[in-house]
Amino acid sequence: MPGLNGRRVAVVAGVRTPFSKAGTSLKDVRAVDLARYATRELLERTNLDGDEVDEVVFGQVVPSALVPNIGREVSLLPQFPKEIPAYTLNRACASSNQAVSSAHDQIALGNANIMIAGGAEALSDIPILASRRLADILVEASKARSLGARVKTFAKIRPRDLVPVAPAIAEPSTGESMGQSAEKMAKENHISREDQDRWALRSHTLAAKGTADGRLTAEIVPWLSSKPGAPVLQQDNGIRTDTSLEQMAKLKPVFDRRYGSVTAANSSPLTDGASAVLLMSSEAAQALGYEPLSYIRSYAVAAVDPGWQLLQAPIFAVPKALERAGIQWKDLGLIELHEAFASQVLSNLQGFAAKGWEINEDIINVMGGSIAIGHPFGATGGRLVTTLSNEMKRRDVQYGLISVCAQGGMGFAMVLERR
Ligand SMILES: CC(C)(COP(=O)(O)OP(=O)(O)OC[C@H]1O[C@@H](n2cnc3c(N)ncnc32)[C@H](O)[C@@H]1OP(=O)(O)O)[C@@H](O)C(=O)NCCC(=O)NCCS
Repeated sequence: MPGLNGRRVAVVAGVRTPFSKAGTSLKDVRAVDLARYATRELLERTNLDGDEVDEVVFGQVVPSALVPNIGREVSLLPQFPKEIPAYTLNRACASSNQAVSSAHDQIALGNANIMIAGGAEALSDIPILASRRLADILVEASKARSLGARVKTFAKIRPRDLVPVAPAIAEPSTGESMGQSAEKMAKENHISREDQDRWALRSHTLAAKGTADGRLTAEIVPWLSSKPGAPVLQQDNGIRTDTSLEQMAKLKPVFDRRYGSVTAANSSPLTDGASAVLLMSSEAAQALGYEPLSYIRSYAVAAVDPGWQLLQAPIFAVPKALERAGIQWKDLGLIELHEAFASQVLSNLQGFAAKGWEINEDIINVMGGSIAIGHPFGATGGRLVTTLSNEMKRRDVQYGLISVCAQGGMGFAMVLERR
């Protein structure tokens, strides 16, 4: 289908770093370095000259205070001329989906022909903040006119002011954490612990299969550490081949210890990683001799009251995206559904089923999902676009769907088409 202005936007290629559980193999790496690593390899694998790229856009959810615009740092790689503009955006867990959509819009509008969209997150490297009182005292001390005045200001510091503040994975509007929201959705939608664990096991089993047969590793740039002797990280390290329903059943719920059902096994883990996707107008792809993996047919975003079911907005985003694409749920040949928590996946599927849509698990997350693969917030969207596009090509599927829930009660959906 021709896009806006008759311009179609092609997904030409995508890569990512291995996704690594926070605090493990990538714990000393900054998000910007992950983003640059993935992008350099994307250029390398596609043999694209950096001069051809019009703009770079990256998503990140928990930025470093020292490198707040990682998009620009990516565009300052030596492979690019310094004149390529770049920015960084935040649409929570759908950030790199938004990066891909924003790049799509620029290409469709005719403002760009070739763009790189990606995302990165280093949850091992979150900014730890000083207390507000300590920050105020430090600012006051910096304005002091004499040494005596400065010392007097510092004398106001109390031990409790020195306690650092870590950002919480919680809604600013309601104070509810993501995990608590997942717990609430399990209860309100009557999703059992057994069903959640079954979905989590499915995620690990399919991701392990996709890793063993090379489909997942094909999109991964092996991570060569700069530390001498460190092993090369070739695959996602959260995927478990050693788990079972019995083992999962032994775990205590995390977010409601007494009556809950959401555990470490049926939640996505905190993860480090980056992804990068190469997008082109179909004309540019043709002129440069690239064979697109897929084309972006439509996308849509929806939001719900965060005080309701925080991770249920995909059930509103998906119908919008399908309508904009002019297709129906039954036309879809593959679906990538972001797995923040199994209770959210099953709640989303319940919401889709309530529309009379048939849920065919054989086409959903065919190589597992974020529960097993991991979820570096800003990077997951790029992974989903890449994984889906590659599998659409392998199976020659015409229509694929991406569905993502995100903080703030937001939902994101995108329809890709093969031809
Ligand atoms: C759920 C959460 C708190 C768990 O964190 P954690 O306790 O550090 O998790 P771990 O990986 O250490 O797992 C805890 C235990 O469960 C075990 N476990 C985890 N997954 C398992 C599985 N699939 N099978 C068997 N055991 C498993 C671990 O081996 C570990 O056991 P141990 O304590 O004996 O070592 C954390 O992953 C989290 O916050 N996730 C949600 C992230 C989020 O909110 N994302 C936003 C989505 S929008």
